[in-house]
Amino acid sequence: MGDALAASGLERDEVFLTSKLTNGAHRRDDALRATDESLERLGVDAMDLYLIHWPLPTIDVDFVDTWKTMIEIRDAGRARAIGVSNFQVPHLQRLFDETGVVPAVNQIEVHPYLTNEAVRAFGAEHGIRTEAWSPIAQGAVLGDPVLQEIADRVGRTTAQVTLRWHIQRGDVVFPKSITRSRVEENFRLFDFELTGDDVAAISALNRDERTGPDPDTFDMV
Ligand SMILES: NC(=O)c1ccc[n+]([C@@H]2O[C@H](COP(=O)([O-])OP(=O)(O)OC[C@H]3O[C@@H](n4cnc5c(N)ncnc54)[C@H](OP(=O)(O)O)[C@@H]3O)[C@@H](O)[C@H]2O)c1
Repeated sequence: MGDALAASGLERDEVFLTSKLTNGAHRRDDALRATDESLERLGVDAMDLYLIHWPLPTIDVDFVDTWKTMIEIRDAGRARAIGVSNFQVPHLQRLFDETGVVPAVNQIEVHPYLTNEAVRAFGAEHGIRTEAWSPIAQGAVLGDPVLQEIADRVGRTTAQVTLRWHIQRGDVVFPKSITRSRVEENFRLFDFELTGDDVAAISALNRDERTGPDPDTFDMV
């Protein structure tokens, strides 16, 4: 990113930099080395936010030990904030009980077909910000008739309605697109509003349908 940042014309303080600790580096020494390597590749001294990518609850490294290393990394000034990704309620509970340090963010799969209410509610109760990955379910929700009806009524696309729904629920969204017009479309979310009934109707589309792996069993390192 050092080069990419220079090419973008943006200043460092105009970019919020999030990175994740990769699955193969949960042991302390590996984590410290991976962090140094990431920072060096990025060309910065610290990330704004650094996350454990997956809890990997079935592997032989305890994610609570990895969280202790993340605390060390934050305390050394290598990350301004630390958080987690794909952590379920029992995983989060163990972090509180065993370290007392609450993650700033839990980045989890959330979209109208997987509203992930229990994890979001636990986060809200404990001051953890939910960040919704695959916020439009990689496009799978975009043809939904309920979203289409709302989109037609408010004069927006189904992608914009879905992203606005996330924001009104209080979650952070980061849709991915390599298409310039879609990137621009996905930013135009702050000049319209959904009614409470619209938000509820979209939440009612939940079918607990994941596009990605189940965090309780995912063990790829
Ligand atoms: N923490 C984790 O474990 C985890 C797991 C998965 C994903 N993520 C992250 O979450 C972010 C987003 O997730 P994602 O890429 O899986 O899914 P997504 O953002 O829900 O969907 C991306 C797909 O939707 C298309 N798209 C984007 N905007 C659109 C629009 N306005 N209209 C129509 N199509 C649109 C994109 O196509 P084009 O690109 O062709 O325009 C792409 O195919 C990524 O940064 C990803 O790295 C995190």
